[in-house]
Amino acid sequence: MSIKKIPMHEYITRRKQFLQKMGSCSVAIIPAATTKVRNLDSEYPYRQDSDFLYLTGFNEPEAILVLIPNRKEGETILFCRPKDSVAEQWEGSRLGPEDAVTHLKIDQAFAINDFHQQVIALLDGTDYLFYGFGNQKRLDHQITDAIKFLKRNERRGKIAPTHIISPDYFLHEMRVIKSAAEIATMQAANDITTDAHQRAMKACKPGMFEYELEAEIQHEFLRQGARFLAYNSIVASGNNGCILHYCENNAQIKPQDLVLIDAGCEMDGYAADITRTFPAGGTFSSEQKALYEIVLMAQQAAIEMIQPGCLWSAIQDTVIRVMTEGLMSLNILTGALDDLIAKNAIKPFYMHGHGHFLGLDVHDVGQLRCRPDNKWITLRSGMVLTVEPGLYIAYNQTEVDEKWRGTGIRIEDNILVTDKGCTVLSQRLPKTIADIEALMRAN
Ligand code: GLY
Ligand code: MN
Ligand code: MN
Repeated sequence: MSIKKIPMHEYITRRKQFLQKMGSCSVAIIPAATTKVRNLDSEYPYRQDSDFLYLTGFNEPEAILVLIPNRKEGETILFCRPKDSVAEQWEGSRLGPEDAVTHLKIDQAFAINDFHQQVIALLDGTDYLFYGFGNQKRLDHQITDAIKFLKRNERRGKIAPTHIISPDYFLHEMRVIKSAAEIATMQAANDITTDAHQRAMKACKPGMFEYELEAEIQHEFLRQGARFLAYNSIVASGNNGCILHYCENNAQIKPQDLVLIDAGCEMDGYAADITRTFPAGGTFSSEQKALYEIVLMAQQAAIEMIQPGCLWSAIQDTVIRVMTEGLMSLNILTGALDDLIAKNAIKPFYMHGHGHFLGLDVHDVGQLRCRPDNKWITLRSGMVLTVEPGLYIAYNQTEVDEKWRGTGIRIEDNILVTDKGCTVLSQRLPKTIADIEALMRAN
């Protein structure tokens, strides 16, 4: 399938927008992610830092983007690995500073080792430094040493920055609103993930091990060119579905189990994050049906609310109200609805939020409360979020009738807020009881 890449002009626009927000007398230093050792001399697959990726589209380690508004030699500067035929023979090709200028449309590029010599000059005369301290020790030291040097030399005319601001402040607000190209990429990630979930549902048979379904998911991701998981896949049968971040995925699936799969691929850096829960044997029991319908009703009620202006916290309020009513109807919760809601009586069975932003990070950046009064945000067109209510009644919740126990259910979709309402990016993946049973029967 063809995947739409983010066009180069979009990176240029993002850098321009960020430069504008920074204002004069400022400098931003945004480093690439470092490589991570897994054990001895084996590394984890490289994953670029999301902020760096957002501003450059450049996927190499050992790189630093520097942005300086109104600098006469150019406002965008990249430090990256120099070309090196021997290193490239072993590790693969590098873009190199010369090609970086043309390929990435950067004003100036230098070898990464030059950063150390240039950092003092880059900081000199600025007032605001946009840099996220605390992530990369070596770079933190280089920058603090440069600031100290400038301070010590103020009497010789040097000027050290006086304000240090996290780049998140502007950058993450930008990342919250997705462009058409980002939405197309996220739709592609959702399409592949939808296919993968369907493949796992069709393949499922009692007696299989959870990892066999994980293999089906991963097979479909890889087959369609999505080489990375957005997060570790959760394939949880029976009581394991009650463990929110279960990842052992090594239990044998029993005939009466529900199977909860929470898995998503990453496409060009953008995450999908979808959950479906289905009966291992292809048919929901009456108890499973009753609980499943409650989660589905809550999820549908929440999705119906999603449009510009919807208060973030109102979505969770709806989920809690619908699921509390549902558990009352099954006598799992007893009392008056308002009292049960007021004391959050559902918490033993639903202990997480209704969802999160989605983007370059699976739990994507962006403030959920805003200053100055810390009110919850309202949704805006271009935001992408998950809606993922769940009910979890574990074996050891002995206060609940045994027939409900050992059941974990979550239904999670990825939702784009549009001008008039919303679009469910994962719409194609069956989630009603009838559609899930039909899909499994068809197999
Ligand atoms: N897969 C993690 C989550 O749903 O938030
Ligand atoms: Mn998920
Ligand atoms: Mn999620």
